[in-house]
Amino acid sequence: MKITKAVIPAAGLGTRVLPATKAMPKEMYPIVDKPAIQYIVEEAVASGITDILIITNRGKGVIEDHFDRAPELEEKLLSAHKQAMYEEIVGLSRLANIYFVRQKETRGLGHAVNCARSFVGKEPFAVLYGDDVIIGEDPACGQLIRAFDEYGLGVAGVKQVTPQAIAKYCSLKVEPLRDNLFRCTDMVEKPKPDQVMSLYSILGRCVLPPEIFDILDQTPPGAGGEIQLTDAMRVLARSSGMVAVDFTGVRYDMGNKLGVMQAAVEVALHHPEIGEAFRLYLKGIAGSL
Ligand code: UTP
Repeated sequence: MKITKAVIPAAGLGTRVLPATKAMPKEMYPIVDKPAIQYIVEEAVASGITDILIITNRGKGVIEDHFDRAPELEEKLLSAHKQAMYEEIVGLSRLANIYFVRQKETRGLGHAVNCARSFVGKEPFAVLYGDDVIIGEDPACGQLIRAFDEYGLGVAGVKQVTPQAIAKYCSLKVEPLRDNLFRCTDMVEKPKPDQVMSLYSILGRCVLPPEIFDILDQTPPGAGGEIQLTDAMRVLARSSGMVAVDFTGVRYDMGNKLGVMQAAVEVALHHPEIGEAFRLYLKGIAGSL
């Protein structure tokens, strides 16, 4: 079955980037001039997704505004003959069919995904975490969809993290299939040192069968007292097995301060408008670091 639906959970509280996230969702942080969530929606669209559900909560209305029409702004751009910017702004409202639903209580990523049950229905679907921006030639979500098409199993986008960092992520039990594909038969969220099965961790993308919703209904709160998506995916991994894709592309964690800065610097260096000037600036200050 062709995957056309995606869910973007964006209802987290972003406590690691306070106070900026007190009133501004981290999903709206600009990477130079484009908010993080726009990169994610564009990646989904480039992967063949036509319908997107964004999970939000109180205070995230600006995300809805970003993908809506903006008549006053559009008029202003037109009258100033800024045609290209006008097209870009209007284009944002036409990227895909974008829907919104609120996660009424912040009970974890698994709980957020479970809010998508009636949107998803009985189809497999993609999940793109709202604070994980992945930049690369080949859209990461599309790489996972191709693996789903080939194996017909749930798919997780993975990368290796450092031994020091694995305790903050999840750890997967994997064996090689071919190239950058692995079979995954177990996983654990926030592993203790004796629970680490590999340094492969799920970073920001997965493709799931609709059975995940019944599993999520049965999933009790796990690490941090939250309903963890990993705990539900572990049931899939242990029963039918999953596929892990070590995706190509650079992933930026917009939920932590260093990730926000890395994204800004690396995107700015290649930005058509400011790239050259920014490179000179960086070279200028690098000598004194
Ligand atoms: P994170 O755990 O990184 O987000 O969730 P968080 O809870 O905002 O982070 P901190 O620890 O407080 O800084 C990954 C993704 O899942 C969403 C977040 O918005 C983020 O995009 N999420 C998380 C939800 O939608 N609902 C939740 O209850 C938790």
